[in-house]
Amino acid sequence: MLRPATLRSIASTSRQPRRSLSSTAPALFAQPSESETPAAGKAPQMKEFKIYRWNPDTPAEKPKLQSYNVDLSQCGPMMLDALIKIKNEMDPTLTFRRSCREGICGSCAMNIDGVNTLACLCRIPKDTAKASKIYPLPHMYIVKDLIPDLTQFYKQYKSIEPYLKNDNVPEKGEHLQSQEDRKKLDGMYECILCACCSTSCPSYWWNQDQYLGPAVLMAAYRWMADSRDSYGAQRKAKMENSMSLYRCHTIFNCSRTCPKGLNPAMAIAKMKLEMARDQ
Ligand code: SF4
Ligand code: SF4
Ligand code: FES
Repeated sequence: MLRPATLRSIASTSRQPRRSLSSTAPALFAQPSESETPAAGKAPQMKEFKIYRWNPDTPAEKPKLQSYNVDLSQCGPMMLDALIKIKNEMDPTLTFRRSCREGICGSCAMNIDGVNTLACLCRIPKDTAKASKIYPLPHMYIVKDLIPDLTQFYKQYKSIEPYLKNDNVPEKGEHLQSQEDRKKLDGMYECILCACCSTSCPSYWWNQDQYLGPAVLMAAYRWMADSRDSYGAQRKAKMENSMSLYRCHTIFNCSRTCPKGLNPAMAIAKMKLEMARDQ
């Protein structure tokens, strides 16, 4: 969550242009093996990282790309390893979110070499001749450096009531579900709300004040598809307007970029289909 000091900074960012992104493409990622941990005595292997910087304390200064040269022979294999090394050893002012370091918390989402992904799951390209460029998630207001303001994203998530709703008290103390019904949630419950998909969606770029975007829509469908929830009709009714759902034009940027390999575009398509059948 944002700290109060940072919230004050958000107000001053309101005129800061949103970052734009013209294309998204699949990311290559994998967990590092033990043999890839940095070792002493290796030949230096320098690579340049160009990182987006913007400081809310000096709002008159334009955002810029700042270069850092990192010796990959002394660095872990993932982009987050490089960012942590830069922050720890070169520039403590560099600001980014991270927590789990293993693709679970979703906090290290950013745009790396043109792709929205998780820095902890994104390998550093071996090509040292080419600099890697790191930006915050596109088309979002920026809190500082690589940190986007996700206030609206979380507000939208809250609006779909992402929890079980069922007025019937279960006889056995809990709502039971068949294995078959449970399987219907696979591919949706794994979402870590990193926002990579929503911020790669052109419809979300232009209408995020009203269009819910792929992450939140998949979360909405996850509860519609849950056999234990009895509020499916009400959940669908909330989508019956021109903006919340129907701004999705099935472009599939969202599914292409998801670092967890999920398919929010498919979930949205299923929701539309069910709503059409219900009419
Ligand atoms: S669907 Fe994928 S990209 Fe979108 S928020 Fe969930 S994990 Fe992130
Ligand atoms: S499929 Fe829909 S939600 Fe996904 S990127 Fe395209 S318009 Fe956005
Ligand atoms: S640090 Fe948690 S997903 Fe990357």
